[in-house]
Amino acid sequence: MPIRVLPSELVDQIAAGEVIERPASVVKELVENSLDALARRIEVDVERGGIGLIRVRDDGAGIAAADLPAAIARHATSKIASLEDLEAIATLGFRGEALPSIGSVSRLRIVSHAALGEQAAEIAVDGAAVGAVRPAAHPSGTSVEVRDLFFNVPARRKFVRADSTELAHIVRLMERLALSRFDVSFRLRHGARLLLDTPAVDGAGGELARLEAVLGQEFVAGAVPVRHAAGPVQLSGWVGLPTRSRAQPDQQFWFVNGRSVRDRLLMNAVRLAYRDVLYHGRHAAYVLYLQLAPQLVDVNAHPAKLEVRFRDSRQIHDFVFRAVEQVLAATRPNVAAAPAAPSPGGNGAPRSLSLGYGEAAGAPLPFADSAPDPWALASLVREPPPPGAEAEQPLGAALAQLHGVYILAQNRDGLVLVDMHAAHERVLYEQFKAERARSSPASQRLLTPLVLELKAHELAALLERRAEFERSGFELDALGATRLAVRAVPALLDARDVGELIAALVRDLLLDADTHHLEAAADRFLGTLACRSAIHAHRRLTVPEMNALLRQMEATERANQCNHGRPTWTRLSLQQLDQLFLRGR
Ligand SMILES: Nc1ncnc2c1ncn2[C@@H]1O[C@H](COP(=O)(O)OP(=O)(O)OP(=O)(O)O)[C@@H](O)[C@H]1O
Ligand SMILES: [Mg+2]
Ligand SMILES: [Zn+2]
Repeated sequence: MPIRVLPSELVDQIAAGEVIERPASVVKELVENSLDALARRIEVDVERGGIGLIRVRDDGAGIAAADLPAAIARHATSKIASLEDLEAIATLGFRGEALPSIGSVSRLRIVSHAALGEQAAEIAVDGAAVGAVRPAAHPSGTSVEVRDLFFNVPARRKFVRADSTELAHIVRLMERLALSRFDVSFRLRHGARLLLDTPAVDGAGGELARLEAVLGQEFVAGAVPVRHAAGPVQLSGWVGLPTRSRAQPDQQFWFVNGRSVRDRLLMNAVRLAYRDVLYHGRHAAYVLYLQLAPQLVDVNAHPAKLEVRFRDSRQIHDFVFRAVEQVLAATRPNVAAAPAAPSPGGNGAPRSLSLGYGEAAGAPLPFADSAPDPWALASLVREPPPPGAEAEQPLGAALAQLHGVYILAQNRDGLVLVDMHAAHERVLYEQFKAERARSSPASQRLLTPLVLELKAHELAALLERRAEFERSGFELDALGATRLAVRAVPALLDARDVGELIAALVRDLLLDADTHHLEAAADRFLGTLACRSAIHAHRRLTVPEMNALLRQMEATERANQCNHGRPTWTRLSLQQLDQLFLRGR
């Protein structure tokens, strides 16, 4: 075949293949255009899963009649003009290809009234056949209508799924958009059905209402705010409590300068921050906003602009990791926790008990551009204590041990139940990590070495991990093929239990045991050690011992969840107890 220049219609259809994959991609491009036009109200109507019709209406700056032909011309944009602009993009669009691409695979109509223009006007494109600009009636802003998507590209039409599937993609997309800009009101309708309606947020507290509308009450009840700034980079948003983790990674949202992205680097930084508190196979929920100077990030790195490249990716990764890690470190029993809420619906027993630490406090605005007070909101999680609570101990005073498993305590608000093994394991794990971080971990030398008889393969397995044992304060020597001399043990351990502990550790290590269930623990060895040396069920504890554990928990980072990712304690407020007994106050 001879080499030929392709007809421009075909060029547009090829370009459309990259950005317009399905109806939801059209919605994305149109709504992003509305946001770039500074709209405050965006209404989306779809029919037949978006294949029949997609109409996006906004109250933005509009397009002047004279500019309408340019809006649908290839490589025509009002958003950038030079290479410098390309290197500092502040808008969602910049390529000048979305509208011509959509026009080449559908019947497109744009009606607009520019805020500063005299008259509204419209233009239509029918699968590349461009009509004339004509006067029209339209309030200030723009409506874009896309009908019969892919009517002229049967190959693409075949990949379109059932209406309900395409609609689900559109809903999910609109939810992401609604999370991206709290200051804009969004509405989505499918035929006569209203699927999403989120008014613009004004004033504090409104953010939580929108979060709830989009992600549900569960998310709001189980998330804590994040706010962190370092130089020109700011992180804000909410991260889910580890004890409220999910079976699917379906509530993980990242926005970079207002743009929704699925960026591996950012997702990985959060994963890493959760590594010591998340149960294996579980997923954190989060909504996070990164703001930085546009020069520091390249958004022109993916056809659908879903990935970005940071100029200094290492630094961004560490910044995000540290910010989230610090917020999660604060998940420990605290006095600032709001009293447990009464269950809705009155008389019956409360169906789900609110954990004392489950309440989301405060809320950052994702679009706030004033420099935030670092940690201002994160610190709300712990401070300030309610008046008169200075001396209050969040976990209260121990009363008794239940079935050798739970500690029963009472605090000012009611009753506290602690899973004693789980709690102690977390306390020890954090202490072991702190010891390990020191150059020489505190170790206690045994008066006479303890000699243990092991099977040859067990001893061999142990010796393979000898460095790990020694870094945490053990001193070990092999005496032949089956005998082990233990000369020193970590100072944190009860030296009387060492024989049993080492035997258990060896068994765990051999099985690569999952006594330690953390997702990707900072240190699996220390996790196993903590599990094996923590008090186990049916060990009798005295009241002073129980109180000592409660006080240790209060002083331990991440103490709200055990190394298996489960809660270490829960509580029943007096109010909840009253409800159990139908007792009015
Ligand atoms: N809703 C709207 N309100 C005001 N102007 C609009 C609207 N939609 C499109 N435009 C104008 O039409 C131009 C072309 O839109 P189009 O989406 O094709 O390109 P873009 O947004 O500039 O870049 P990209 O292809 O990356 O989306 C825009 O640059 C903008 O000037
Ligand atoms: Mg665009
Ligand atoms: Zn354990």
